[in-house]
Amino acid sequence: MQITPQAGKQLGVTVEDFDHTTASESDVQDLLQAVYSSKIAVLKNQDLSPRSFHELGKRLGRPEAYYEPMYHHPENPDIFVSSNVQENGKQIGVPKTGKFWHADYQFMPDPFGITLIYPQVIPERNRGTYFIDMGEAYRRLPDELKAAVSGTNCRHSVRKYFKIRPHDVYRPISEIIDEVEKKTPAVLHPTAFLHPMTAETILYISEGFTVGIEDADGNPLDDKLLHQLFDATGQLDEELSHEAIHLQEFEKGDLLVWDNRSLIHRARHTTTPEPTVSHRVTVHDARKLYETGA
Ligand SMILES: [Fe+2]
Repeated sequence: MQITPQAGKQLGVTVEDFDHTTASESDVQDLLQAVYSSKIAVLKNQDLSPRSFHELGKRLGRPEAYYEPMYHHPENPDIFVSSNVQENGKQIGVPKTGKFWHADYQFMPDPFGITLIYPQVIPERNRGTYFIDMGEAYRRLPDELKAAVSGTNCRHSVRKYFKIRPHDVYRPISEIIDEVEKKTPAVLHPTAFLHPMTAETILYISEGFTVGIEDADGNPLDDKLLHQLFDATGQLDEELSHEAIHLQEFEKGDLLVWDNRSLIHRARHTTTPEPTVSHRVTVHDARKLYETGA
């Protein structure tokens, strides 16, 4: 296994010759360290069935299946499928997922540390996923914003981007919203926390899932503060040209592994959709997402 920094990029490493069936435990630890320190690892030349992809994920941690079954791969519920390609006239997984800034499972009480994406059908143009490094984003915050978030917590919810399921058709929208709030009530996480693997301070907010900020006693703070934070971190730039935004491209055979603690991401979809299919496995590593706030 060889790990080399991605040429000309501020983030990411390329990993050649990683074979999950023969990799030693120390190779796996080296790979995980590269993910924590460089945020994204691109495993090259992977040729994996859904079952092997799942096995590879299990070498890095404990998989968590997505809570909504409509995203599951028909052969393996631990694989989340994003697809706009029908198979034998049937929709598999869900099209157009994640086209907004988010960290995976940020709206859940116990988010996982690592996301693996294995693109299956890759668009000719407009390939790639956008990322923002929220450790770097925290370091770049003006001192007054760092002071303003100190000791605060944020509320996160899936409500803005919950996708209507086939069986929701003809249901009253209020009933669906009530169900979302009951099944996935908004959760509280520290606005900034120490990354348990790197001790880096991470600003843990996203425009897609973060719906409120409050002080240590639970008193809501002005939404203007959240807006300032989204703006300062590049999340409000609809042109996606902010200097904090990193476009990670990929080609067939690439498997992306990233640090779901410090990166937020956003899928790249265009108004003229091209066939796109990707499989995702998400895993809990040796630690909780965070232990204490910062
Ligand atoms: Fe995602």
